[in-house]
Amino acid sequence: MAVKIYTDKDADLKIFKGKTLAVLGFGSQGHAHALNLKESGAKVIIGLYPGSQSRQVAQDKGFEVVDTAEAVRRADVIFVAIPDTKQPDAYKKDIEPNLKKGKTLLFSHGFAIHYKTIVPPKNVDVILVAPKGPGHIVRRQYTEGKGVPALIAVYQNPSKQAKNIALAWAKGVGGTRAGVIETSFKEETETDLFGEQAVLCGGTTALVMAGFETLVEAGYSAEMAYFECLHELKLIVDLMNEAGIAGMRFSISETAKWGDVTVGPKIVDAGTKKRMKAVLKDIQSGKFAKDWVKEYQGGYKKYNSLLAAGEKHSIEKTGEKLRSLMPWVPKRSLKGTQASYEPPKAEVSATKASKPKVKAKAAAKPKAKAAKK
Ligand SMILES: NC(=O)c1ccc[n+]([C@@H]2O[C@H](COP(=O)([O-])OP(=O)(O)OC[C@H]3O[C@@H](n4cnc5c(N)ncnc54)[C@H](OP(=O)(O)O)[C@@H]3O)[C@@H](O)[C@H]2O)c1
Ligand SMILES: [Mg+2]
Repeated sequence: MAVKIYTDKDADLKIFKGKTLAVLGFGSQGHAHALNLKESGAKVIIGLYPGSQSRQVAQDKGFEVVDTAEAVRRADVIFVAIPDTKQPDAYKKDIEPNLKKGKTLLFSHGFAIHYKTIVPPKNVDVILVAPKGPGHIVRRQYTEGKGVPALIAVYQNPSKQAKNIALAWAKGVGGTRAGVIETSFKEETETDLFGEQAVLCGGTTALVMAGFETLVEAGYSAEMAYFECLHELKLIVDLMNEAGIAGMRFSISETAKWGDVTVGPKIVDAGTKKRMKAVLKDIQSGKFAKDWVKEYQGGYKKYNSLLAAGEKHSIEKTGEKLRSLMPWVPKRSLKGTQASYEPPKAEVSATKASKPKVKAKAAAKPKAKAAKK
């Protein structure tokens, strides 16, 4: 069944006239939505907790920053741009007591609503606008006159305007430039989690590391292994992104094509697919969500130690050295807040030509955190 794709002409930002939009949190998604909506002409305020390291960054980018509860009180549409596991506490403490009939709660991932870690009252609209890309790319593409495709969904609609609000928000962040699809909270949550676990983040990083380790353990140099298993991946994926798998195969050699179609299915085989199905089942049953919330409540111990081990893997050292030899691959700093992450130099100058309004400034407090999906 073909789905309807909404574009700029299907959405009207006038619905935000005289309204205040609050973005709670100024991280990867939050800063991108806030800046894009502001530059699309909407009135946006930022809600943060008192000691948040994001406060200064948001102020430097020209926003009025208030406490989370105050932002909820003042706003008509409230975007909960807080990490999924931390949303329920903020909801109980600052959001729920200040929600009133007619307000709209907006999410960019359906986790809290779908798994019921947040249960909003019936008299507020609950909607989803989920760009299908990391926050930094949502911001970068907007400044370049482009947009990241987005999903919208309506969970509750007492105002009867919920879908128009979601479409207008999607337009304000640049999503309708690329195309917007309507889905449900359930479908967005389950497919998003599956994609990032099995293919985009988890599947890809595991595949790259296994390939790198296989070559290094066989005595090949780490530099060779890095080029082969990580660097070239982007070039191949760019071709798939432009023209599909067949389009990528059009550009590679006959020998590569033969290896692709005969050996690929031995690496990712029926067993892999069986495990993918099990992963999907854990997502659908709520087991993954339950375990993740437990990990958060236990202080993120395993989460932090696995990420730290990843950072120490020799592929990172090799990569750092090789990328520094390629002047067109810009050095990126992963220190500091999400919102202070700067686009690579080469892309900054391209960006300046289109929408130079907001002055970027490096963030104050360093905090090791990688740009993420
Ligand atoms: N990252 C992505 O590209 C992406 C993509 C699609 C969907 N999403 C969804 O977007 C949502 C936000 O994720 P994110 O990755 O953008 O988060 P993030 O980068 O980790 O940023 C979270 C922000 O929330 C702030 N915060 C934490 N507790 C708060 C509270 N109680 N009140 C107000 N602000 C608070 C943080 O402040 P501090 O700086 O002080 O910690 C930070 O500014 C999640 O639902 C996620 O699933 C994210
Ligand atoms: Mg996600």
